[in-house]
Amino acid sequence: MTTEKNRVLIFDTTLRDGEQSPGATMSHEEKLEIAALLDDMGVDIIEAGFPIASEGDFAAVSEIAKLAKRATICGLARANLKDIDRCWEAVRHAKSPRIHTFIGTSPQHRAIPNLTMDQMAERIHETVTHARNLCDNVQWSPMDATRTEWDYLRRVVEIAIKAGATTINVPDTVGYTAPVESADLIRRLIADVPGAEDVIFATHCHNDLGMATANALAAVAGGARQIECTINGLGERAGNTALEEVVMAMKVRHDIMPYTTGIDTTKIMHISRRVSTVSGFAVQPNKAIVGKNAFAHESGIHQDGMLKSADTFEIMRPEDVGLSGTSLPLGKHSGRAALRAKLRELGFDMVDNQLNDLFVRFKALADRKKEVFDDDVIALVTDAAAAG
Ligand code: KIV
Ligand code: ZN
Repeated sequence: MTTEKNRVLIFDTTLRDGEQSPGATMSHEEKLEIAALLDDMGVDIIEAGFPIASEGDFAAVSEIAKLAKRATICGLARANLKDIDRCWEAVRHAKSPRIHTFIGTSPQHRAIPNLTMDQMAERIHETVTHARNLCDNVQWSPMDATRTEWDYLRRVVEIAIKAGATTINVPDTVGYTAPVESADLIRRLIADVPGAEDVIFATHCHNDLGMATANALAAVAGGARQIECTINGLGERAGNTALEEVVMAMKVRHDIMPYTTGIDTTKIMHISRRVSTVSGFAVQPNKAIVGKNAFAHESGIHQDGMLKSADTFEIMRPEDVGLSGTSLPLGKHSGRAALRAKLRELGFDMVDNQLNDLFVRFKALADRKKEVFDDDVIALVTDAAAAG
């Protein structure tokens, strides 16, 4: 059952953090297309760009804000009044606009603007107050939160809440945290910061150690109710939490992660392919959920099992992510059962000794080729008929 308590908001940042991947730049039209697909699949908040970064980013965020039907449209702004004003200019056209402002709070990041801790605290108060005077939906992020000293983090989160932030995002900017820490950090913030009960806590994880999905889900267990993520895990360096992974994990393992999202999961495959095409970032074949092999079985034992019952080797239905079905590619590890199934699918019904003969020819071919395609099987049948 969906209640306020177990509903997790999905905040997609493919068009902002995702596009920051070196080489992933998308055109204006491509951004509009991806935003429309995200809106249609039920993403709650779309971070459409960084309006002050360029005229192009500003134009894309403004246009997406005007076109969005359901989603809240968010723009990113650094902790200064000029960035925030520019961001508001772009998102204000949306039915539901949000300003997302941030500053790096860890020792490593505090060194950059050359502010003392007190000066930074003052800056946070001033900028969040300013954003809140423009927009009643304000997200604030202490960048590199997971490497920020606990006392300081607690202090600045309290300041941001008092200044009017409605969402507090806790970024693991460099993918440094581990799942137990991720859950614990959110839990402690909610327990210790005055006013925490009035805001939503968000988790924003990077994948430098391959833990972004685990960290995001752990943060939800700790009380976060917004996950920031991207399609295909696109994003700076090793990327961000992959939307498709967290959404499907909560769906498939609802027994231990009893949270719901508004995502129509049958739209996942299509948007994954479109993001891959427009960003120029190929999806690795063994990528969870959206990789070419995520629902493919080549070995004889697996294919035989799958032909008997899908749940032998699949924990979710391919249809649930928008695929038409499981694929049983033929290769050197395939067995008779899969070859027979393929022959039937192609319209050839064979008796056992014909199948045995064809299987020998098939194995010889499969040893030479990585994958045996439908046309190869048809050619094998034709050759066998001519020989026999
Ligand atoms: O990774 C990060 O810290 C960010 C912030 C701008 C939220 O992307
Ligand atoms: Zn990020």
